[in-house]
Amino acid sequence: MKFKVPRGTQDILPSESWKWQRIEQMIHDVCDLYRYEEIRTPMFEQTELFQRTVGDTTDIVTKEMYTFTDRGDRSMTLRPEGTAPVVRSFVENKMFGWADQPVKLYYIEPMFRYERQQAGRYRQFVQFGTEAIGSADPAIDAEVIALALDVYKRAGLKDIKLVLNSLGDKESRMAHRNALVAHFKPAIDEFCADCQNRLEKNPLRILDCKVDRDHPLMKTAPSLTDYLNEESSAYFEKLKSLLTAAGIAYELDPNLVRGLDYYNHTAFEIMSTAEGFGAITTLCGGGRYNGLAEEIGGPPAPGIGFGMSIERLLLALEAESASLDNSDALDVYVVSLGDAAKDRAFEVLQQLRSAGVKSDMDYMDRKMKAQMKSADRLHAKWVAVIGEDEVEKNVVQLKNMAEGSQQSASVEEMIGFIQNERI
Ligand code: HAM
Repeated sequence: MKFKVPRGTQDILPSESWKWQRIEQMIHDVCDLYRYEEIRTPMFEQTELFQRTVGDTTDIVTKEMYTFTDRGDRSMTLRPEGTAPVVRSFVENKMFGWADQPVKLYYIEPMFRYERQQAGRYRQFVQFGTEAIGSADPAIDAEVIALALDVYKRAGLKDIKLVLNSLGDKESRMAHRNALVAHFKPAIDEFCADCQNRLEKNPLRILDCKVDRDHPLMKTAPSLTDYLNEESSAYFEKLKSLLTAAGIAYELDPNLVRGLDYYNHTAFEIMSTAEGFGAITTLCGGGRYNGLAEEIGGPPAPGIGFGMSIERLLLALEAESASLDNSDALDVYVVSLGDAAKDRAFEVLQQLRSAGVKSDMDYMDRKMKAQMKSADRLHAKWVAVIGEDEVEKNVVQLKNMAEGSQQSASVEEMIGFIQNERI
């Protein structure tokens, strides 16, 4: 029997994992800069949490969840997204009582969606997300957007754009909802079964339908923007002026509705504009979710956040032919000749590592030439050769690979040279 990695998932091998480490470090640094703190929640939650928050007419809940019954007969779901679990934790841990509000959290965690596999769409993917909960100030919306853009900028992406919309508050949404029902109802028979089901339950979801997206009524559907009440418009205007003042460019898209039900007011996506990026151009999606904490039994706590997958960030880098810094090569490769030298090499290696020098040696009893080839492949900056003579004299032959120079040195001297070069 042959085993394969499950469809829609991937092994991240060393040739790629270093990139993940770079990106993850970059994310930790940017979040620290903005004072967002890391939260880690379980990989699965009660199914109902997602049904109530993401919404039971959304694709995620109706088609994509990995749901199972545990041995205690409870319905559990591998998390398809990070917002609901974080808000659940916010309520459960009474974070609304913490002295510093809003509570600013971030996570880098795997998410699971049973989607059709294609470029940029996986069944397990890693989402970096932030959630700022406890403030309804449009300045925090601007901050969250700026943070997402900063991560892409640091990673080296240039061909990206920010797309913005406002979904308004409850009142605006109700007015728009009624207009949508009136718009689609006369011709709803021409739409897919899902849309027919959505008409009464959640007509906004029709606009997000992948099956009927070319139906002429889609283009003429009433736009949310026309139904924003005064308060919602003022909120949106304030956000736009804050972004402009911060030098952040955006495009408006009144059809941007997002695939999850908990949003109101701000909705945004960051897309790749790189040629050849592929069909799915959304790198990051987010928005405001006032009312979500109450929906799951907490006090009112307005929130805003976004999610972006590392997979799509890496694809965007590739599409732009932008490369991450991989200068973290090996400092020293220790080459040994003969048994006594090999024992000595291991001793030297541990001394080097104790001094913080990144080093390795041969464990395959290979000839000197093969060992030198390894040193080359690993981009070692220095090679320390140990033969019988060196064992006796307690030294190494230290070769600087860039300069080609060679000298005899004690271990202490060698550590000194390497540390000096780093300064
Ligand atoms: P979402 O739009 O469903 O929002 O996902 C956000 C991002 O996750 C996408 O833009 C994409 O980068 C990534 N993503 C989603 N599905 C896949 C997939 N199958 N394969 C690879 N990447 C994927 C949310 O999940 C919200 N929780 C975002 C949010 C946080 N809103 C407020 N706070």
